[in-house]
Amino acid sequence: MKKALINLLLKLAGLLNKNKTYNISIGNEKLIVNLGCGMHCLKGWLNIDGSLTSLLGTNNTFLNKLLYRLAGSSQYYSFETFNDVIVTKKLRWYNLVNGIPLENDSADVVFTSHFLEHLSKSDGYRFLEESFRVLKPGGLIRIAVPDLEIAIQKFNNGEIDQTQDLFFYTSEDCDFSAHKYNYTFGTLKERLQKIGFCDVTKRNYQEGDCPDIDYLDVYPDHSLYVEARKTI
Ligand SMILES: C[S@@+](CC[C@H](N)C(=O)[O-])C[C@H]1O[C@@H](n2cnc3c(N)ncnc32)[C@H](O)[C@@H]1O
Repeated sequence: MKKALINLLLKLAGLLNKNKTYNISIGNEKLIVNLGCGMHCLKGWLNIDGSLTSLLGTNNTFLNKLLYRLAGSSQYYSFETFNDVIVTKKLRWYNLVNGIPLENDSADVVFTSHFLEHLSKSDGYRFLEESFRVLKPGGLIRIAVPDLEIAIQKFNNGEIDQTQDLFFYTSEDCDFSAHKYNYTFGTLKERLQKIGFCDVTKRNYQEGDCPDIDYLDVYPDHSLYVEARKTI
């Protein structure tokens, strides 16, 4: 019942906000965007996620306490961390299946970690096209996803359950949690190049041109990290 209500609420918000654009006043500052950020947010970034927390989080600690319980976040974070992310980081809500709510050529950096695999093959392609649209010419995208090649290695080593959980995760909960498509460097590179990205490069954990990756990069054991640039 609770799950159905949450899904309904998120669907409704998606319909109501379909054509939203965040008019971020950037001045001389660079616009650096973390898409599908979850609670892994940093100050100075525009952090966007489709979770209940990003939809209903407020500056009011009492309401955030209720949300903390409703969203079941106590399994993962202390209330202090939860509240701090909502109150002090620029955390915004959007269903990224509907596009990226930013102007053309507005972002310097798009970072997205362990989000792309939550989209279907075609939604994922559209998300990459959207990333291209919102980036400034020469702008950088950094993508982290579970690496399908590592999944195959693990599977061949007999780590069947771990492979299922890490790479082919399905969920009884909110639809957002399930994995819908996986990538190798080759398949991701092909898609990025088809869209018009150049300099598509496989990167190591916490290595590359993207700012703050010492904090933002997670899951070194099973991730593929890729950077590319929008052609000038
Ligand atoms: C595995 S978490 C990754 C969080 C964080 N980026 C990290 O690396 O730890 C996936 C995130 O994608 C978000 N997500 C999934 N589908 C989404 C959608 N259609 N629109 C926006 N966010 C979505 C979920 O809410 C969740 O926070």
